Amino acid sequence: MPHALAVDDDPNFLSALAELIEGQGFTTYTAGTLRDARAQVSRRPPDVALVDLYLPDGSGIDLLKDFDSLTTTEVVLMTGHADVESAVEALRMGASDYLTKPLDIGRLKSILANVASVQPANDVPLPAEAESHDAGRLGLLLGASPPMQQLYTLLRRVAPTDASVLLMGESGTGKDLAAQSLHLLSRRAKAPFLPLNCGAISPTLIESELFGHERGSFTGAARRHKGYFERAHLGTLFLDEITEMPPELQVKLLRVLETGSLLRIGGDQAVTVDVRVIAATNRDPHRAVAEGKLREDLLYRLQVFPVHLPPLRDRAGDVDLLATHFLGQHNERLEQPKSFTADCLSNLREHLWPGNVRELKNVIHRAFILADGEVTTSCLPPGLGGAPEGGARTLRFDVGTSIADVERQLILATLDACGGNKRQAADILGVSLKTLYNRLNTYREA
Ligand SMILES: Nc1ncnc2c1ncn2[C@@H]1O[C@H](COP(=O)(O)OP(=O)(O)OP(=O)(O)O)[C@@H](O)[C@H]1O
Ligand SMILES: [Mg+2]
Repeated sequence: MPHALAVDDDPNFLSALAELIEGQGFTTYTAGTLRDARAQVSRRPPDVALVDLYLPDGSGIDLLKDFDSLTTTEVVLMTGHADVESAVEALRMGASDYLTKPLDIGRLKSILANVASVQPANDVPLPAEAESHDAGRLGLLLGASPPMQQLYTLLRRVAPTDASVLLMGESGTGKDLAAQSLHLLSRRAKAPFLPLNCGAISPTLIESELFGHERGSFTGAARRHKGYFERAHLGTLFLDEITEMPPELQVKLLRVLETGSLLRIGGDQAVTVDVRVIAATNRDPHRAVAEGKLREDLLYRLQVFPVHLPPLRDRAGDVDLLATHFLGQHNERLEQPKSFTADCLSNLREHLWPGNVRELKNVIHRAFILADGEVTTSCLPPGLGGAPEGGARTLRFDVGTSIADVERQLILATLDACGGNKRQAADILGVSLKTLYNRLNTYREA
């Protein structure tokens, strides 16, 4: 199991962070000061360290020096201030990445997934489902409808090749999942799968992140930094939101795809890489070309294999299958499983799902929390026929009420409806537990 160290002087934040990291399959130590952190490192060097930039006894950057000999530790700096300069400084000193607070949980998870994916535990068998030939699934994707069957045929054909793939589809249709499935079904399955969200990383850092830099390539570049391409060697690089990559970098990316080699920033030796690239976008790529966001030559290079993920509204029949699957995942933790009433399933089937599978997954999670034994229509959001009657309560606000006040009343009423259970309330409100705690603290102080 990979090991993480989280360092921050705010105990509430630290415990929420540790819980999140553990949830991603890491053993986790925590520390509130640099001193504690050093003690923890000597106890067990972590695979990844998430370190706050400002600590009571110094700067998180100081800790980087301790990792010099342990080049395998990925150090991720966290900063409460949108202090890009310190973050860039940290990257020059050898940090792998930085996150600004409040943390983007999606990015944090993708960093952790990268660390976990390069663990040498290569004798781990592939997830059974990756190899399954059940008609209702392929790799990690579920769905038995004809559009999904067509998709599976295409994915099965392209997975074993090294062809670049461009995944297209509305938000929430499963592009991330399709990229991971392609990797699992390829000969690269045991090598790293590294996702990089081109839209979530600052344009000034993306080049160094992708291609790496040499020691001394700019003032203070204390260590050589390997980019995503080198770290994904023999594996798969998933370039999400490809249209957000700066055009000048798209030229460099195209060159790497064509030559199979790259130059680190400040380097003059070509480094050969064997990486399969999967890209994704939820925009129309041809429109992106017309708007100058995507280079045409790169599009043609990536489009060797264009793959469209169908929206959920075109996948009649899959709603039942997916809803039952997601409910089953929540039921796993219960002795008495909850099940859908016929009415509830029929409301789910009739909905158009503009947010696709992601929306369905969230609706089922919320319904599961609200349901006592049976998941009825009243557990669905109002837009799906869940009339706020019976158990559900209504709040009324006069025009002139401030947003802060509405938020306060909604939070307190939800907490009340959940019998004081903060985790449940945070889930329903769609905020992190930490955000909920922060709000409650402010109300207490007011
Ligand atoms: N076919 C599917 N089977 C099972 N789960 C799915 C499927 N498609 C999507 N999901 C789930 O729905 C959620 C959204 O999927 P995913 O992140 O892959 O969408 P996306 O197309 O990458 O969206 P975006 O454009 O917003 O990044 C995830 O939790 C994913 O596990
Ligand atoms: Mg995605």
